[in-house]
Amino acid sequence: MDSTQTPQATELLQAQTHIYNHIFNNINSMCLKSSVQLGIPDAIHNHGKPITLPELVSSLKLHPGKTVPLYRLMRMLVYSGFFVTTKTADGQEAYDLTLPSKLLVKSNPNCLSSFVLALLWPDYVASGHFLGDWFKNDKLEDTVYDQAHGMEFWEYNSRNPEYNEIFNEAMASDSRMMNLVIGDRKGIFDGLNSIVDVGGGNGSLGKVISGNLPNLQYTVLERAQVVGSLEGTKNLNYVAGDMFKHVPSADATLLKLVLHCFNDEECVKILKNCKNAIAGKGKDGKVFVIDVVLDETNKQDELTETKLLFDILMMLVVNGRQRTEKEWAKMFKDAGFSHYKISPLLGVRSLIEVYP
Ligand SMILES: C[S@@+](CC[C@H](N)C(=O)[O-])C[C@H]1O[C@@H](n2cnc3c(N)ncnc32)[C@H](O)[C@@H]1O
Repeated sequence: MDSTQTPQATELLQAQTHIYNHIFNNINSMCLKSSVQLGIPDAIHNHGKPITLPELVSSLKLHPGKTVPLYRLMRMLVYSGFFVTTKTADGQEAYDLTLPSKLLVKSNPNCLSSFVLALLWPDYVASGHFLGDWFKNDKLEDTVYDQAHGMEFWEYNSRNPEYNEIFNEAMASDSRMMNLVIGDRKGIFDGLNSIVDVGGGNGSLGKVISGNLPNLQYTVLERAQVVGSLEGTKNLNYVAGDMFKHVPSADATLLKLVLHCFNDEECVKILKNCKNAIAGKGKDGKVFVIDVVLDETNKQDELTETKLLFDILMMLVVNGRQRTEKEWAKMFKDAGFSHYKISPLLGVRSLIEVYP
């Protein structure tokens, strides 16, 4: 539209709808969260066939007075692609699962329901309310999370064992999905006898990789609050430690969704420790980075939106960011690495192999 012309009423109303939708977007998140809290995906899955509204009310053990509100919730969730409406054999309207809601069924090995609950935890979401205030303060060291909760995210987790567990399980659920790609890519570990998963959470990815490669010695380096009481297996062990201080020696190190939690200076510190850790393997050592690579062309597609939102999330919760290839390349160079190779991996992630 030419900015000198008066916008037509229809254009103004479209603009109003655009604003409304962005205000209401959090309601989408809350509908999704409530479907997980209520166990709707499990109820449909356990029913074994499409479920009618009265059957769903009964299966969820809701008061019959909640039938119409549940109908309205389902209507929204059908609109947003989590369920579909279909007909039962005797012609009644019924709900069925879609691929996204199948990923919320607890018995699915790739279930992501804990990811939904952890990332929509009230205190986690609350930091978003402080973004505007945070921009106006001059305390450059403070994260938005500090502004909201008076402490940084990792400290919050250490002080809140209940949330710590929920968050670690969410990360673990995300890592279990790596199962879908690791089997086909075992070749990337050729020639490696040992690997340290730096900030490896509760070892969910470790279990996938060490299970696929029984001759690979796998170490998970993590904060004591996460791995303190975990028991390893024959080729998987846990080490409580601080990646900013020391990374144990190995042929390779791996950083999955760790570097996006930190600023460039901190990442260079972690990467330098990783470089020291693999020094014994000479030029054959490598660092695997599994993380987001932002597309510099800013395409208008769902994946780009997810990556951009993921970037803002890192600003809301920690001192991190998502990075373009150029930004990754600079950080690797600053940490003393000579070259790297990027391959798309799974959804929003890429695999970056970084060489000394
Ligand atoms: C976003 S999570 C990723 C976890 C895991 N790599 C995954 O993808 O499932 C970042 C991890 O870094 C760990 N972490 C944070 N600071 C750390 C430190 N100083 N030393 C070791 N681990 C740390 C956190 O406890 C957390 O598990």
